Amino acid sequence: MAADLNQHEFIVAVAGMIFNADGHVLAMKRSSKKDAGAGLWETMSGRVDHFENPYDAIQREIFEETGLASGLDVVIDPRPYTSFHAKRLGQPMIVILYRAAHIANEPVLSEEHDEFAWLSSQDFAERSTLLETVKAVEQATNEHDTLLAYVASLNLVNTKSNLRNVELMKETNTHVGAVGDFPEESMHSFVVEGQDVLLVHQEGKFYALEDKCTHDNGILHDGELMDGWVKCERHGAKFNLETGAATLPAIKKVRLYKAEVSEGEVYINMQEASI
Ligand code: FES
Repeated sequence: MAADLNQHEFIVAVAGMIFNADGHVLAMKRSSKKDAGAGLWETMSGRVDHFENPYDAIQREIFEETGLASGLDVVIDPRPYTSFHAKRLGQPMIVILYRAAHIANEPVLSEEHDEFAWLSSQDFAERSTLLETVKAVEQATNEHDTLLAYVASLNLVNTKSNLRNVELMKETNTHVGAVGDFPEESMHSFVVEGQDVLLVHQEGKFYALEDKCTHDNGILHDGELMDGWVKCERHGAKFNLETGAATLPAIKKVRLYKAEVSEGEVYINMQEASI
């Protein structure tokens, strides 16, 4: 018999305590517009999606609520620190609490929170009414050296080189927006380093190409996006998104650039793509 997925008795949620090098926890104030717990000081938390691994969920939640990327800005201990039960709008909830060490970049809050602060466990206890979280923050603060030991035990060479790569990418690329700004099957135009560039989002991939038809300078973003191709509206030439290859009446390929995604942000690199 098929399970009725609407009959869950418990909500399953994850929460994360992120500690900085001083042993202070990242606390955030829930937006005054939230339906549950408006104005409450908390650590980040959120529901585990259907079929989602809780460790994936905490990485997702931390990124969504703070912009901090796992492995780059924070190291999350994959072993749950503790768990407890709570209620959300009267519904019972199991919360799996993780802890993490902050290693780079300040948080960028989503609209779920209005403010953040790095607080000692005493200051957190004064502001938050979430008793189980307050208790866990206090205990984890006392055990902060075990978190540091866990981080030290990891080989962070990759983390450091990832950080360098991200910084390098930010220097050489032009940021054009967040992934969410570009819906699937959309075309947007930009001027990057004096060149007209067409950005396409299709099938989860981004493509950047010269926004000019090689037949007679038609503007490609005025044309039609097809499956793997963009069609010039003037005389119907098509250009392949992967290779830039043209169909008649155009003969010459269109120039391709690099479109790159990092930490949910989209960048255009005017180096020509190697294909
Ligand atoms: S200008 Fe694009 S097909 Fe002629």
